[in-house]
Amino acid sequence: MSSARPRPTLHFAPRQGWMNDPNGLIQWNGRVHLFYQHNPSAPVWGNIAWGHASSADMWSWEDHPLALEPDPAGPDRDGCFSGCAVVPYGRPRLLYTGANGAHELPCLAEAEDRHLERWARYEGNPVIAGPPPGQEVVAFRDHSAWWADSMWYQVIGGGLQDRGGALFLYRSADLTSWQYLGIFAAAADHGLDGKIWECPDVFSLGNSVVAVVSVHDDGPLYAMWMTGEVVGHQFIPRAAGRCDSGSRYYAPQSLTLTDGRRVAIGWLQESLAELDADDRSRAGAMSLPRELSLDENGALRSWPARELDGARRKMLAAQLVEGRGTVDVTISARAAHATEIAITPIRGEAADIVMRLIGRGCANVEVRVSPDGVAVSEGSRLLTAAVPPAGAPQRQAGQVRVYCDQGIMEVYSSLAGPAAVICDRSAVYVDIEVEVGPHFNAPVCVASVKAWACGRPQG
Ligand code: FRU
Repeated sequence: MSSARPRPTLHFAPRQGWMNDPNGLIQWNGRVHLFYQHNPSAPVWGNIAWGHASSADMWSWEDHPLALEPDPAGPDRDGCFSGCAVVPYGRPRLLYTGANGAHELPCLAEAEDRHLERWARYEGNPVIAGPPPGQEVVAFRDHSAWWADSMWYQVIGGGLQDRGGALFLYRSADLTSWQYLGIFAAAADHGLDGKIWECPDVFSLGNSVVAVVSVHDDGPLYAMWMTGEVVGHQFIPRAAGRCDSGSRYYAPQSLTLTDGRRVAIGWLQESLAELDADDRSRAGAMSLPRELSLDENGALRSWPARELDGARRKMLAAQLVEGRGTVDVTISARAAHATEIAITPIRGEAADIVMRLIGRGCANVEVRVSPDGVAVSEGSRLLTAAVPPAGAPQRQAGQVRVYCDQGIMEVYSSLAGPAAVICDRSAVYVDIEVEVGPHFNAPVCVASVKAWACGRPQG
């Protein structure tokens, strides 16, 4: 297996092998622990264990040994699939999916040390013997758990033959014996997408309940947020949308930090087939940590976690642009650092912002941000779901942040959804062109464009 491929600077990726979903996100003793679906021996899905990394800032990660590996004699002999972390009585536990042939059932493990490196499996695994009887369940896996009214609750993701993607709700006093309470939500009941909803993530934010699921329809499609309320044992979505308009972001999971912020990290999908032949040591990366909030319409918004500002090192450019301007800055995807570009309207309002990364020996990348969304194209290839409609929006584009890191590009808009894409992994961009389209209210818009090299301090 080739080991040529450098790891990204701000995005977590395994040293080698395959990675998919983030799991068991938890802040513990001042560090955020990230577990992840991992095949350490090949850059393809299979023989899934839980990898483990931790970080004080969510962008510089330290590797830990594997946290869980399939137990040949256990209910997870065919893989330790996705799950979450909970902390009863000050001792973290993992609630994960044990794969055993066609069975995918909830299992429990308990932390044995303060670095969360050693985990003891509960001898009574699986803790739920099978999907709820009496309905045609087509999938049943992945967990999101919370504590309310002196009880543990969890939803398990999956799908129903006649109602599509579904979340199954359970309650427990001790995490080991669970009572089934019914269907928390199902796709067809609300006209939503998906035969299966994988990787649920349910939490409250402000006055709303948020349920994020990964929509699967004979293959992973996209991560979807729903916001609404819980009535009895049912979740009633009032609004729904895509978490990200690129095609990479999937299976996000979130945690509440000790300061109250809710932060999500998602898997950026990457397959072996699309890697360079000499560059196949690993596949898959995590997104940057995204701080979550709700806008006035109940839509879920993401913005780069403020810890990322601490990754800014050398300033590469700082310039004002009125209408259209070119900013000289060299960004190499192969460089040992990542680049952040921040565009902030400072006089007038921008109805849309267009940024072109002019390449040397590679296709140019164009990023368009309007109140309706983010579109990224590389040459003639559109990398995001849809181009935001043209015209004169009534609202402004807000601030924009772009991160380039070993071909991974993440675009954030303060007023629209984010987009994570993967561009040419060896591209060198030499100029950035920025256009700020003035808002009809304010015929002139001046924006500040700043760029930094990002990474750990040298030395
Ligand atoms: C989502 C998923 C989960 C499952 C895991 C297995 O990407 O299919 O539903 O638990 O991956 O690796």
